[in-house]
Amino acid sequence: MTGAKAEISLHPGLRYLPGRLSRQEQEELVEIIRGVVAEAPLYVPAMPGSGRPMSVRMTNCGPLGWVTDKERGYRYQPIHPVTGKPWPDISEVLLDLWRELSGHQKDPEACLVNFYADDAKMGLHQDRDETDFSAPVLSISLGNTCLFRIGGLQRTDRTKSLKLESGDVFLLGGEGRLCFHGVDRIYPDTSTLLKAGGRINLTLRRVNP
Ligand code: SIN
Ligand code: FE2
Repeated sequence: MTGAKAEISLHPGLRYLPGRLSRQEQEELVEIIRGVVAEAPLYVPAMPGSGRPMSVRMTNCGPLGWVTDKERGYRYQPIHPVTGKPWPDISEVLLDLWRELSGHQKDPEACLVNFYADDAKMGLHQDRDETDFSAPVLSISLGNTCLFRIGGLQRTDRTKSLKLESGDVFLLGGEGRLCFHGVDRIYPDTSTLLKAGGRINLTLRRVNP
């Protein structure tokens, strides 16, 4: 891929792979996620303390899933907070992508599935609930384009904004593993992948050393 997108300079350890997934690969992932959601329904996560609902709906696959609620806050756990059942397995398709791109020996333990309706967003944060930061977080965008904001290691560092499109992959690894990031907005009607609109973001994470 050439052009302005590839030229954005990012914090060391960050990798932006625009158009990494073909349309066919994206469609295959949507089918896989449909299967995950059938077994482990999307739920509304709540902020620690305030209990304020997030606008993004979530589920997971893998031995561990990232969850949050008012009482117990951010954490990983092996069961769905609503159904109490173990999370479904991570598909081989996703494991293959991780093995190819992560540069990490061990497989991911969690795949967080974020579903953004066209009016959803996610505030600036670090992914720091893992006990091992040596593996990257591998992020996959599907469906409508979003405005993604990526900063540095301090909340107050300057940020850059880029549009993540369906099929783009983004890695936060190495020195960039703890960079602040968030999603400012979704652009409706920018993809035909998801018939009902919105955006799906998948993040593959290694939790334990
Ligand atoms: C996340 O930080 O968990 C999600 C990022 C994204 O939706 O691109
Ligand atoms: Fe994150």
